[in-house]
Amino acid sequence: LHIQNADGSLTSLEAPVDMGLSLMEYLKACEYDILATCGGMALCATCCVDVLEGEDKLNEMTDDEYAMLDTLPDVLPNSRLACQLQLNPAMDGLVVKLHHTD
Ligand code: FES
Repeated sequence: LHIQNADGSLTSLEAPVDMGLSLMEYLKACEYDILATCGGMALCATCCVDVLEGEDKLNEMTDDEYAMLDTLPDVLPNSRLACQLQLNPAMDGLVVKLHHTD
């Protein structure tokens, strides 16, 4: 799992894939600046990330996630809610960038 920082550099993380964590919970645990106000209910969109590489490795969007993303003004076609992405081995090599909406 790689995170693209604001300055364009990449941080590589070895995310635990066997703990049932979502990407949002993991990023929060790593002290990334993710508010996740709704606690992972797909309701606040503050956990939004832009997927730069590996979109095909992710689970399909649920209707809730899609509906929430649809309300954001600056959403990109590759934006996802990190709380709806469960960490799993298939995500190896994924590159995401935090999508700040404030
Ligand atoms: Fe609120 Fe993901 S934590 S939408």
